[in-house]
Amino acid sequence: MALLEVSDLRKYFVVEKGIVRKNRNYVKAVDGVSFTLDKNQTLGIVGESGCGKTTLGKTVLRLLEPDSGVITLNVNGRSINVLDADEEEMRLVRKKMQMVFQDPQSSLNPRMPVKSIIGEPLKILKIAEDPEEREGIVLNLLTDVGLGKEHMERYPHEFSSGQRQRIGIARALAVGPDLIILDEPTSSVDVSVQAQVLNLLKRLQETWNMAYLFISHDLGVVYHMSDRIAVMYLGKIVEVADADRIFDNPLHPYTRALLSALPFPDPEFRGKKKRILLEGTVPDPINPPPGCRFHTRCFERKANRPCKREEPGMREVEKKHLVACHNY
Ligand SMILES: Nc1ncnc2c1ncn2[C@@H]1O[C@H](COP(=O)(O)OP(=O)(O)OP(=O)(O)O)[C@@H](O)[C@H]1O
Ligand SMILES: [Mg+2]
Repeated sequence: MALLEVSDLRKYFVVEKGIVRKNRNYVKAVDGVSFTLDKNQTLGIVGESGCGKTTLGKTVLRLLEPDSGVITLNVNGRSINVLDADEEEMRLVRKKMQMVFQDPQSSLNPRMPVKSIIGEPLKILKIAEDPEEREGIVLNLLTDVGLGKEHMERYPHEFSSGQRQRIGIARALAVGPDLIILDEPTSSVDVSVQAQVLNLLKRLQETWNMAYLFISHDLGVVYHMSDRIAVMYLGKIVEVADADRIFDNPLHPYTRALLSALPFPDPEFRGKKKRILLEGTVPDPINPPPGCRFHTRCFERKANRPCKREEPGMREVEKKHLVACHNY
């Protein structure tokens, strides 16, 4: 049984253009997304800025209420319907699913010392109510992420971007989650320490037995971190497969374009993949193109196919390799 099952999830944002309903516009940030994630596995979510990655992560955790869909979390032999969970179930969900945010600057309370930032979820979720016990746990967590006792009383602004992200990771770990949603965990970190943070995440995953939903716009980083990869375009997943299959046999034209833009040191690989330059820019998510959302930029669009009219569904083209494209 999968740890997390997400089915046909939707989150639209109303863009106020007026009070009259017909004048309202919607950003279809997440528009019918389905995936499963197994225990101890990493599913990478990759796509350009604005395609809905952060919204997807927050919606899965119910930090944003979705408009529709089903989210099932299977923990401790229980199957929890996250969108229909009562208070007690929701507390379990919060213990089992955590998120590390894209921007640690704004996700860490600037007026709290590190000790309280990491200790807060332990208190709220009633995991350690005794302050002394809590402090001991926090110290262990800090050590786990490569910080120490001397950092306990300091405030977020006293840290580097990389250290701040380590604090965010320690806070997520505090409750002993089965799954962490990592939203661009290295995008705000200096390039020189990005690899350290990624390696830390890998090490923690092994010792803590956790699954990751790893969100990034960087396909190279996603490949390094993930067992499976889902490629997103304008609120939808267009292709999902094992990381190696995405690299060896990318099927969706958008995936192929993303791959072709990667700088590869291996000349053999480079020779095989000619750089594909996409026409145009990402369309406005308020008014996505009809049919296949990618058709306006697709270099394989064919007149005899329904690309402009019909939205392609997800099809399993090879084992565990799904793609939404009329070519297949
Ligand atoms: N609170 C909001 N209200 C209105 N629109 C929003 C809101 N949050 C996100 N959006 C819009 O939804 C779409 C998806 O945004 P989201 O932040 O999920 O994308 P992303 O893939 O995480 O992008 P990035 O790579 O830049 O972080 C964008 O068009 C964005 O402008
Ligand atoms: Mg984002």
